[in-house]
Amino acid sequence: MSLLTHLSDIVGQAFSDLGLPTELGAVVPSQRRELAQFQSNGAMAGAKLEARPPREIAQDVIDRIATHEEFKTVDIAGPGFINLTLTDGALASWAAATAADDHLGFAVAAEPSTVVVDYAGPNVAKAMHVGHLRATIIGDSLARLFDFAGHNVIRDPHFGDWGFQMGLLIAAVEDDGVDPTSITLDDLQRIYPPASERARQDDAFADRAREATVRLQQGDPGHRAIWKQMKSASEVSQRANFAALGVNFDLWYGESDVHDRIAPMIEAMRESGVAEESDGALVVRVAEEDDNREFPPLILQTSAGGFLYSTTDLATIDMRNQELGADLCLYVVDRRQTDHFVQVFRAAYRSGVAPQSMVLEHIGFGTMNGPDGKPFKTREGGVVRLADVIKLVTDAARDRLDEAHLAEEYPDEERDRIAALVGVAALKFGDLINNRASDYILDLDRFSSFEGKTGPYLQYAAVRIKSILRKATVLGLAPGDIIDPGADSERELVLELLNFPEVVERAIALRAPNHIAEYAHTVAARYNRFYDECHILSEEDAGRQGSWLAVSSWALATLSILLDHLGIEIPDRM
Ligand code: ARG
Repeated sequence: MSLLTHLSDIVGQAFSDLGLPTELGAVVPSQRRELAQFQSNGAMAGAKLEARPPREIAQDVIDRIATHEEFKTVDIAGPGFINLTLTDGALASWAAATAADDHLGFAVAAEPSTVVVDYAGPNVAKAMHVGHLRATIIGDSLARLFDFAGHNVIRDPHFGDWGFQMGLLIAAVEDDGVDPTSITLDDLQRIYPPASERARQDDAFADRAREATVRLQQGDPGHRAIWKQMKSASEVSQRANFAALGVNFDLWYGESDVHDRIAPMIEAMRESGVAEESDGALVVRVAEEDDNREFPPLILQTSAGGFLYSTTDLATIDMRNQELGADLCLYVVDRRQTDHFVQVFRAAYRSGVAPQSMVLEHIGFGTMNGPDGKPFKTREGGVVRLADVIKLVTDAARDRLDEAHLAEEYPDEERDRIAALVGVAALKFGDLINNRASDYILDLDRFSSFEGKTGPYLQYAAVRIKSILRKATVLGLAPGDIIDPGADSERELVLELLNFPEVVERAIALRAPNHIAEYAHTVAARYNRFYDECHILSEEDAGRQGSWLAVSSWALATLSILLDHLGIEIPDRM
């Protein structure tokens, strides 16, 4: 159990004894640490229910809990806040119990759900670009968090490999004259942008692309062969990008993998009347009465007979329900696709493709911008490839390591690996520290700095704890029992570490890794203060020293889990 749950139980019981709702006893860390360690604000709400002054209710609660042995002080502040401070002995025993727990006090799900995280979503036609970077970073963090919480997580990249873009490429490849059996990703990247532009202006070409899409989807062997070659050409670079980011998937599925489900799904929707003809196309109406904007019908099949992005998304929901038994699907996709997901989810529930019990959620996010505040582009205004961004941050990390004289005399191979880990940490943390719905600016200098709220700062803090623990081992010292905190900075660190379960809970409930990023930074900063004030290795009192080492290894365990939730790896040394 977590300390805050325990305290909330005690105070909640007092509220309930007074005939008030137990939930009013919720205890949170104090907003004003100079007054107390914890507070409970329920007396104000209780006062409204009972038409009594809040301070009176607070006093009644206090009378019931004040003698509890874990409390050092219990008192009223302001309009009726209940302030609590624990004895050092109580803190030490909570510290010991929490540090010894595998999940550091976090209660894993009693009944695990099957959670599909749909993220990354690169398209075969194009190199992965920075737009897919945010999806990858945020989605991966959410997958890690749900995994930690004990759920059965299935990571699915949902590659874009089946819609109009494929027909467009096939038509363009025919015109380009490149040998389709040996087509490379570079070819695709050269061919796609002008083809996409041309389809907008040249109707005949757009028609050909549409026809090619239909023929591909209907199984034309020649088209399937070109498509396969294009898919494997881009797979090589996708795998390399994901490896560089330390991201792994459980499935390697794309839109095309649900193709066989489409015909029966559409047939059932036609029979039930959910799908209707409209101008030769087959659509599902999704508008609802109190919509505040227009939601056009979802197109299941075009008049030319092709299936679109929405069609494969619906069939994928069918697969996730039937085959994977998904309870919850998180779609980590740019928030500009909000309307698409509203359409798809409504159609899924209306048609019964998704049972009402299946939860479908779009986890939207903002854009990563360049220094000019506009979507990150190359100097020539082109789309920046993910591989180039990774190189940029790795180079920046190497410069910072040099400046800070870190990893200086290590073998080249290790230095390269450290620079890669630091670069990726800079990128991921720079993203995840933001509220996911906001846009942010990719600021290489700031992100890669070893100071401030950055990934490298956190890595360095963790590496330093590792190194202290290693030095202790060399000196024959080992972590001992955690005893009463001996210094302010130690007490603050312990209190902070005890917040872990609630922070993780919040991050999961809100699908918001920024809570983890923020908290990881606070923990590292608290540890650094503790380390400055408490000279662990030269401490003469062996009991105190052993306790400090135990607190240090608890802090390292906490930071390691938090950084893991952010997808950040900690080097052994720096
Ligand atoms: N391939 C899509 C794109 O690049 C993202 C896929 C998101 N996932 C989904 N199930 N639609 O925009």
